[in-house]
Amino acid sequence: MSNVPYYVTKKIADGTYQIKNGFTTGFDTYAYLIEGADYALLIDTILGFGDLNAFCRTLTDKPVKVVNTHYHWDHVGGNFFFDSCYMPAKDIGLFQNCIGFSKEDIFNAAKMSAKEEYKDLLECDENFAGTHPIKVYPVSDGDIFDLGDRKIEVVDAGGHTRGSVVLIDDRTRLCFSGDACNGNTLLEFEDSLPINVYIENLKRLKTYAPRFDMMYGGHEIFDPSIIDEGIETAASVIAGTDDKCEAKGITGNDILYAARRNEDGSRADGKRFNMSYVPEKITGEVSDNQVIGK
Ligand SMILES: [Fe+2]
Repeated sequence: MSNVPYYVTKKIADGTYQIKNGFTTGFDTYAYLIEGADYALLIDTILGFGDLNAFCRTLTDKPVKVVNTHYHWDHVGGNFFFDSCYMPAKDIGLFQNCIGFSKEDIFNAAKMSAKEEYKDLLECDENFAGTHPIKVYPVSDGDIFDLGDRKIEVVDAGGHTRGSVVLIDDRTRLCFSGDACNGNTLLEFEDSLPINVYIENLKRLKTYAPRFDMMYGGHEIFDPSIIDEGIETAASVIAGTDDKCEAKGITGNDILYAARRNEDGSRADGKRFNMSYVPEKITGEVSDNQVIGK
């Protein structure tokens, strides 16, 4: 029997739970379980430590469907405790690539987020999901998860990844926003969208903001005014008037942060939104179609 507190949960609204790991350092990743009359929807599945399917069974007796806001490993790790997931159509290819990584490699990367006292207790055994092929169904802008007595709408919010989406629950007036718009919005990846495309997606997301009061993200929680800060900051990058702070990106590449940061990562001017980007990809065109090379 493991002594690791794999999951802790908090009820954030009627039939709505925030789930996180109980053993991680301050930097948390969140999943959300939304219970409806016909089924429950699990939005993101975090790192893959602990049987998340079994944990959901402690919160609901409804069948559980999994949807991901995007394909990144810290949002899909627990997918592999289920036999299927819904994934933004434009992120499916990159999600499939994750299945090629070895269980040990993912385990070692995921273990970095554990507090010291838990690191030795975590084992790369049946308590860690690893990866294996599962059924993947595409979701796109405008798709609806009809849970019976509540409907959750998928809204395109690409930028962080090409396919990133948010999900809006009208009943609780909550938006589950993944990594789409927050205090550390990374647009530094190869598949991140150019800033001129991202800003248009933020402007479109703003038109949905009258439908929600809070944005429950994959790592942070904000009220919808963070979208205005995102639009303003992205506009400053396009205009060339941002702070252009040099930094190293997650993959070790040279990146810029749009706004100067304090040592704790918060924005020096007191605002909340910030974004990383690479200077070569401020403007560009993006096709809706795939180009399939060798
Ligand atoms: Fe992400």
